Amino acid sequence: MKVIAFNGSARINGNTADLINVVFDELAKYGIETELFQLAGKEIKGCKACFGCFNNQDKRCVQNNDGLNECIAKMIEADGIILASPTYFGNVSSELKALIDRAGLVSKANGNLFKRKVGAGIAAVRRAGSIEVLHAINNFFFLSEMIIPCSSYWNIGYGREKGQALNDEEGVRTMRILGENMAWLMGKLNTV
Ligand SMILES: Cc1cc2nc3c(=O)[nH]c(=O)nc-3n(C[C@H](O)[C@H](O)[C@H](O)COP(=O)(O)O)c2cc1C
Repeated sequence: MKVIAFNGSARINGNTADLINVVFDELAKYGIETELFQLAGKEIKGCKACFGCFNNQDKRCVQNNDGLNECIAKMIEADGIILASPTYFGNVSSELKALIDRAGLVSKANGNLFKRKVGAGIAAVRRAGSIEVLHAINNFFFLSEMIIPCSSYWNIGYGREKGQALNDEEGVRTMRILGENMAWLMGKLNTV
């Protein structure tokens, strides 16, 4: 089994990546393969609302030159998907929103490509607005017929500068429990 995680931060290997890696450590204990894909620097554009994906139905976005189709392919292949973002003005980063909108529409155009995959959201935050980030990510999972594992608190970690989220003891514990529950759920779903 495999989990692909997308780090929506514009900053490579910052707090969002650190939180993802805490979840990855737990998944690894259960033998689940993991891959971290950093959206920073990829310059993935927003959805053009051309609905070309509905005409083509080839599991791809018609905007073929910015790496988004590589992301969709990784999502199709994976059993679990983590979408993680820093909090930017009380919402997800524009990088992650571009992925959500385009992967989400391509999925819809092809009969819900991520149906019954396990999905978890993560938010890094300095102070406030992270609940809206999780809500935005969960909307993608809800509309994709995905299955969401929970933790003991909202899946958030506090920090401003790189590395600070790892000092948030409760945030790190929340990520560990999220990883455990994600692995448990994936194990159950794989048995049928
Ligand atoms: C453009 C921008 C907007 C931000 N908006 C918020 C915000 O609304 N609330 C907040 O608490 N922190 C905000 N922050 C701080 C980041 O969410 C925080 O530093 C986070 O840990 C960054 O994660 P990263 O290290 O993965 O990039 C903002 C940072 C940037 C660059």
